[in-house]
Amino acid sequence: MAAVRIDPAGALRGTLRVPPDKSLTHRALLLGAVSDGPVRVARPLESADTAATLGAIQSCAVRVDGDLGDEIVIHGVGLRGLRASGRIDCGNSGTLMRLIMGILVGQRSGTVVLDGDASLSRRPMARVADPLRAAGAAISTAPGGLPPVEVTAGMPLAGTVHDLPVASAQVKSAALLAGLFAEGETVVSEPAPSRDHTERMLAAAGVSLTGEGLTRRLTGPVDGIQLPDLEVPGDFSSAAPFLAAGALIPGSEITLQGVNLNPARAGLLEVMRRMGADVEVASPRRVAGEPCGDIVVRGGAELVAASVEAQEVPSLIDELPLVALLGAHAQGVTVVTGAAELRVKETDRIATTSAALEGIGLRLAGRPDGFTVEGPGTITGGRVDAAGDHRLAMLGAVAALASGTGVAVEDFACVAVSYPGFARDLATLGAAA
Ligand code: S3P
Repeated sequence: MAAVRIDPAGALRGTLRVPPDKSLTHRALLLGAVSDGPVRVARPLESADTAATLGAIQSCAVRVDGDLGDEIVIHGVGLRGLRASGRIDCGNSGTLMRLIMGILVGQRSGTVVLDGDASLSRRPMARVADPLRAAGAAISTAPGGLPPVEVTAGMPLAGTVHDLPVASAQVKSAALLAGLFAEGETVVSEPAPSRDHTERMLAAAGVSLTGEGLTRRLTGPVDGIQLPDLEVPGDFSSAAPFLAAGALIPGSEITLQGVNLNPARAGLLEVMRRMGADVEVASPRRVAGEPCGDIVVRGGAELVAASVEAQEVPSLIDELPLVALLGAHAQGVTVVTGAAELRVKETDRIATTSAALEGIGLRLAGRPDGFTVEGPGTITGGRVDAAGDHRLAMLGAVAALASGTGVAVEDFACVAVSYPGFARDLATLGAAA
């Protein structure tokens, strides 16, 4: 895999509109596909992951006009109207594989095999298959609960109480989506608050969801849903590398416009504030039922170590590699616990983040459920292997910008899984990749 060399940039300055939210784009495509009529989606994210979801709904005989990255119209076929058979390639996307399971189980007929790339083929699917089977669905996985996953539609589903052992929005979403087709009440409880985009979108589409705290309830079967037209706000996880780079590089001032600030997503802001970083939110507003705003980050503040524990982890699950890098620059010991989920992401992110930091002369001590980093250290230069993980590619780039002599990022191209224009956007702030 080709390495891309990224040089230190000096202060990063400017304004950026980060790409649209990946989680919301997946959900708009999937819920649009099973809406009762057309749904217009402005600014759906163009990326490898969301292209897989677009391909998946098209392979279920859903017509979509327009292009990702611009504006699309999804011609919804109704809640039970997907014509699914054969194989669906989910690429690198766990969100696609897990959420579509909850929809396929409610279709009238057809057997579908879901598979994906080498990374997705190592990721646990029993966490979704088991609760859906408990509701009556016919699902089989490969040994060890791994993909490929075979879903046979047409089985009667019953409302079920799911007490989920992991805080995962993907698992919660699949269980709720299957609940749309089930006879009676579906109850889903999670151990910590994971992102609630599915709940917000289902409510906007006319589904009555109740529950409080960590429990959600819905009563099925639901006849139909109609997702309203929507515009996808900016992705907090794509803003995050700029927040980290801006905080680490003295003299930087970056404004990130129109970012989704859903509290179940924006935990990094809180952690950066605790670390003493200069971050500020301006112009709060709502887009697509989600709280959004502009974020301003300024560099140069002395950072101090922070602790992150299980209840907060889901709100920054995809940003924890950046917390490791920030922690390595902060005075004291940064400790992350309750984050065993990092082991089953696109890579084992405790292992790959540790290897990345080691490659640039920093040290992270892995724990089974998180890590410890002692700072402050400095990055001279070195190599980071993205290992096919888009979040590691962005980590490598941020490390390079904050380094003394630059960093070679191996397999940088995998950044296109969520952010194909990342290098171009870096360049607008004065950096070159
Ligand atoms: C996602 C949820 C998270 C996150 C992933 C996207 C989603 O996974 O890591 O990148 O869109 O629901 P889990 O909720 O399974 O931890």
